[in-house]
Amino acid sequence: MSRIDSLLSRMTLEEKVGQLNLVSAGQTVTGPSGAEDVAAGVRAGDIGGVFNVWGADAVAALQKIAVEETRLGIPLVFGLDVLHGHATTFPIPLAEAGSFDPGLWERTARAAAREAARDGIDLTFAPMLDVARDPRWGRIAEGPGEDPLVGERFARAKVRGFQGGDPSSTDAMGATAKHFCAGGAAQAGRDYAAVDLSERILREIYLPPFRAAVEEGCVAVMAAFNSVAGVPMAANVRLLRDCLRREFGFDGVIMSDYAAVAELVAHGVAADLCDAAALALKAGVDMDMAGGAYLQGLPAALAAGRIGEADIDVAVRRVLALKEKLGIFDDPYRRVGRRERNAGDQRDLALEAARRCIVLLENRGALPLSRNLRRIAVVGPLADAQDEMPGPWSGAARVGRCATVLDGLRAATDAEIVHHAGCAIEGGERGGIAEAVEMCRSVDAVILCLGESAGMSGEAASRASPGLPGLQGELAEAVLAAGVATITILFSGRPLVVPRLAERSSALIAAWFLGDEAGTALADVLAGRFNPVARLAATWPRDIGQAPVYYGALACGRPPSADDPFTSRYLDAPTDPLFAFGHGLSFARTRLSNLRASAGTFHIGAPVALDLLVDIMNEGNVATQETTFLFMRDLVASVVRPVLELKDWAKTDLEPMETKTVRFALAPDTFALPGAGFVPTIEPGEFELFVGPNAERTRLLSIRVRALPAPPLS
Ligand code: BGC
Repeated sequence: MSRIDSLLSRMTLEEKVGQLNLVSAGQTVTGPSGAEDVAAGVRAGDIGGVFNVWGADAVAALQKIAVEETRLGIPLVFGLDVLHGHATTFPIPLAEAGSFDPGLWERTARAAAREAARDGIDLTFAPMLDVARDPRWGRIAEGPGEDPLVGERFARAKVRGFQGGDPSSTDAMGATAKHFCAGGAAQAGRDYAAVDLSERILREIYLPPFRAAVEEGCVAVMAAFNSVAGVPMAANVRLLRDCLRREFGFDGVIMSDYAAVAELVAHGVAADLCDAAALALKAGVDMDMAGGAYLQGLPAALAAGRIGEADIDVAVRRVLALKEKLGIFDDPYRRVGRRERNAGDQRDLALEAARRCIVLLENRGALPLSRNLRRIAVVGPLADAQDEMPGPWSGAARVGRCATVLDGLRAATDAEIVHHAGCAIEGGERGGIAEAVEMCRSVDAVILCLGESAGMSGEAASRASPGLPGLQGELAEAVLAAGVATITILFSGRPLVVPRLAERSSALIAAWFLGDEAGTALADVLAGRFNPVARLAATWPRDIGQAPVYYGALACGRPPSADDPFTSRYLDAPTDPLFAFGHGLSFARTRLSNLRASAGTFHIGAPVALDLLVDIMNEGNVATQETTFLFMRDLVASVVRPVLELKDWAKTDLEPMETKTVRFALAPDTFALPGAGFVPTIEPGEFELFVGPNAERTRLLSIRVRALPAPPLS
C-alpha cells in the first residue's frame, strides 16, 4: 500500500479537512483578517499548510508540532509569495519581463529558490502569470506584461528556476502558477473586479502562460479572486475542471486565493460557507487559503449530502501527493537544516538583473553623463528612498540594504553631488519645492527621481490616474523650468502616464523597482558604464483614457486615420501610445535592413514553414545588445485577427560598426489560429511578417508569405 493510501485509510474526516486548510501565520500580512493561533490549529490537526512564516527556526518550530504532536504526524507544507527574490530582491516581474531574457528569468528564480528554501519555504506562490493590459491595475507589476508569448516563456523559465528540475531538492521549491485566470482583464482596472471575456480571447491571450506552466511541471495552481463570465474562479467548473485539469492535464494542487472560497458568499453565488465549500470542492479547489471556509463548510456540506467523502479524499490525496513531491514526507525538516550562506553571488546577480531591466525611454543627448560635470543635483522623493527600492511583494527583503540613486551616483562619479527630496511621494507640503529648484539653479545637471511608492502597485493598488502622485508633478514642472539639463528617473510598478515629462526631460528612464542594487545599476547607466538593453513589456499610454492599451488590438473596419474622423479614434487624444511595447533605447544606434524569407510560400502540413533573415548593423561607437522582434499579421482569416502578434524575438550582441544576420526559424504553428473547436488551425492565404525594434508600425520592416493548402496525398 502506498504511503498516501495508508494515511488516507487511517484519517478521520476532521484530519482530512485539516489537510485542505492553508492558513497565514502573520509574519507578513498579505490579506485581510487578524492573526490566527496557528500553533494551536496545527496541534489540533486543523491545518495542512502555513504561509507567511519563514526562517529556519520559526518554520521548524511549527513543523515539530505537526510531526510530533498530531496523531498521524503529517508534516506541514510552508508557502510564501516569493515573486522577485527572497532576502535578496531582484527587479519586479514587469521590469524583468522587459529584459526579454529567459535565461535571466530562470537564474533569478533559481537564486530566489535557493534563499527561500534555506528559510524553510517549500512552495512559492509564483510565478504570477496574469497578462495585463491596463496600467490602472496595480498587479500589472507582478506579472510578465501584456503579451501571451512573453507570458508563456516567462512561465517556463520561472517554473524551471523555482523547481530546479526537482521540486523535492533541498535548494528548490514548488511553483504555483497564479492567478488562474484573467484577473488582468478586471473591469476598469479595479482589483478583484469581475472579468468578462470571449472564449477566444481567453484562450489566445490569458490561458497560454498557464498551459506553459503546467507543461513545465508546476506543482500547484492558484485560482483567482475574480469571476470570469459570471462564475467566480473559486467555483469555476468549466475553467478549473474542464480546462485546467482535463484539457491541460494538470493533476497537482489547486488552491484558492486568500479567502476566495468564503468570498463566494459576497459574490452572491453561495448562501453560506457550507454552500461555498461545496461549490469550490466540486469545482476542483483542493486547498482553501485563509478564510476557514473548508474547515467550517465541508463537514456541513458532507452532512447535507452536497458532497461525498470521496470528493474530499480526492483533494486530500492531491495535498498529500504535493507534500510527497516536495520531499516533505521523507524529511519534514529538509529545508530548514542548512545554514550556509552565499550572499555574495546573489548580490552580483541582483546587480546584473537590475542593470538589464532599466529602460532608457528618451535620450536627447544627455546620457551618458559627461565626465566634465562638476556639480549634479539629485532631486525628488525617490532619490534616496531605500525602503521603496524592493517594490511590492518583498516581505522577506532585508531592509536597509538597498542602494539608492543617491548612493549609486556618489560612488560612481567625482562630481559634487547635492540632494533635496523636494516633496513627499504622496501628499506633503509645497515648501521643499522652491528650495529644491533653487539648488538646481547652481548645478550642471539634475537627476530627478520621481514616481510611486512600492505600495502603490501590487495587490489592492489600482489607480484611476496613474500619473505622478502628490506634488511631484509640480516639482517636475518647477525643476524643468529652471532650464538645467534634467534626467528624469521614474520608479513605478506600472506604465505611468507622463507625456509632459517625456517631452521635456533631457532623458527619461523607467527604473521600475529594481531591488537591492537599484541605485548602483542606475548610476552605471547614468555614467555610461552599462549600455541599457531592456524594453517595455507593456505599452505606456499617453492618456489613461486609452486603457486597456496594448499593441495587439483586433483589426476593425475603420482603423484610426488622422485624416478621417469616421475612424476608430478619440476627439481629444491621439490613439498611438506614448511608448510602444518593445520600446527601449541604448547608447548605440542600430539599423535593420534586407529582410528576406527562405521561401515565399509553404505548404500547410509541412514539417517546417520557412526562415526569416534580417541584417542588423550597429552604427554607433559602443558595443550593444539589440532585441529584435518578429510580429505577424494574418491578412485574411475566418475570424478577425490582431493587427500584430508577437511570434519571436532575438537578442544580438554587436560591436561598434558590426553587422550580423538575425535568423528566425518559423515553425508551422507560428501561423495557426484557434479554429473550429479552438483547435490550432492554419488557414491558407497571405501573412505579413514584421521585424523591428518595437511594435511601432513605422519602425517595422515587412514581407509577405503565403500558406498553401496541403498537397493531395499521392
Ligand atoms: C494574493 C495572492 C497571494 C496570497 C497569499 C492574496 O491576497 O492575491 O497573490 O499569493 O494573497 O499571500
